[in-house]
Amino acid sequence: MKKDSGTPRAKTAIILAAGKGTRMNSPLPKVLHPVAGRPMIANVIEACQSAGITDIRVIVGHGQSLVKAVVEPLGVQCFSQVQQLGTADAVRAAQIDSIEGDVIILNGDHPLLEASDLKHFFKTFHDEKLDLAVVTAVLKNPKEFGRIIRHQGSLKAIVEARDASSETLKIREVNTGVYICQSDVLKDYLPKIQNKNIKGEYYLTDLISLAIEDHCKVAPILGSAKVALGVNTQQELAHAARLVYRRKARELMETGVLMLDPLTVYIEPSVVVSSGTVIHPNVHLKGSTQVGSFTVIEPNCFIVDTQIGESVQIRANSYLEKCLIKNKASIGPFARLRPETEIGEGAHVGNFVEMKKVKFGDGAKAGHLTYLGDAEIGRETNIGCGTITCNYALDKRKYKTKIGERVFVGSDSQFVAPVEVGDDAVIASGSTITENVPARALAVARGKQYTKPNYNKK
Ligand code: UD1
Ligand code: MG
Repeated sequence: MKKDSGTPRAKTAIILAAGKGTRMNSPLPKVLHPVAGRPMIANVIEACQSAGITDIRVIVGHGQSLVKAVVEPLGVQCFSQVQQLGTADAVRAAQIDSIEGDVIILNGDHPLLEASDLKHFFKTFHDEKLDLAVVTAVLKNPKEFGRIIRHQGSLKAIVEARDASSETLKIREVNTGVYICQSDVLKDYLPKIQNKNIKGEYYLTDLISLAIEDHCKVAPILGSAKVALGVNTQQELAHAARLVYRRKARELMETGVLMLDPLTVYIEPSVVVSSGTVIHPNVHLKGSTQVGSFTVIEPNCFIVDTQIGESVQIRANSYLEKCLIKNKASIGPFARLRPETEIGEGAHVGNFVEMKKVKFGDGAKAGHLTYLGDAEIGRETNIGCGTITCNYALDKRKYKTKIGERVFVGSDSQFVAPVEVGDDAVIASGSTITENVPARALAVARGKQYTKPNYNKK
């Protein structure tokens, strides 16, 4: 095998994802099952991209229209494998004639792979000037994995568990399913692979013995057990997710995030949390969520795509989605903040308050049992208990309520939108406001009290 040294070689990744995933017992294609909030194949693709691989080819088959719809927007190319005739046949579907440089082959259902692993494999491959390498791992329980056969220490072949003798099955070094080779190795030996085995499949593992027979430089690269962690069942899916959450919790604690019980927090890899912040048990932080320093997030909060500032209190059982919480605000317990809600600095949102599309000013307060939708609330305004904006009308359109600064809204008030209230106005308790209220005015819009003396004859 010839190798041009010096100049960096092009890198291509081939990700195998055409298999059925029968043991998942699920209508969703296996590689689309989420691990820590993302389809598992997206983790593999991201690892490749972060390792600097731009030519990424995904082999699709079962459920391919769904798989394509998810992975193509990530900037990869899909190739169909018409019939699942084995892993070698899957690689063949990647139009290998058009590949130059080095190729890494991965399984789409190994979601724990990280860019640092791939970089390490490529480095070893180059440092040892190999033609072909297979990444191996030593497992306590090697189950169905292909076994690594060595002779006097050197790699000889990979034998599939189902084709192995009981003696071979005792070997604990396994094929993780990750390979790196020069593209010429694929072009030379892939066409020579035959399907003479128990399953009648074209095994990619036969590439190893073919290349060795032809005196190519082939060696194993020992990886960690997590590289071998493939997802084949729902239990393995849950296990993989748990490992990703633990890894994230560990990383955050290393950077000074406090966790009362890291085993029960569910923080997706994409989330950013600054040091000095405290995360209580059973907190879910998802998507593009970012949390500043010295913030406290109490138990059972579910927070999606939300920006949270510094020194914020998110009390127990709050649900936040696509909002912005500025510094020193306090939210909850039991608050629900829906998309496009912005809570100002030092503002307070108390229990059983729901907001949707609200700009809630600095220092404003809504302490209890309130619904605000499509509203703008000025700074320092106090929204009394039981206030409701009536934003949705019979014409199925949404209307806006605008309340100025330092307004006092008495309890149990309704604002029938569209309606505006000026700065420093006062709304009497129990009012149903249907007309604009000018600045500094008092508005009372409720039935007058009628008191009948000695009404109860008892
Ligand atoms: C394969 C390896 C085995 C290794 C294990 C690691 C072979 C013959 N065996 O076994 O040595 O220990 O992976 O997980 O390669 N796929 C296709 N098209 C096909 C067949 C499979 O795209 O025609 C895809 C699957 O979707 C999966 C991957 O290839 O992502 C591996 O296939 P799978 O059937 O799981 O191979 P294993 O039996 O696990
Ligand atoms: Mg498998």
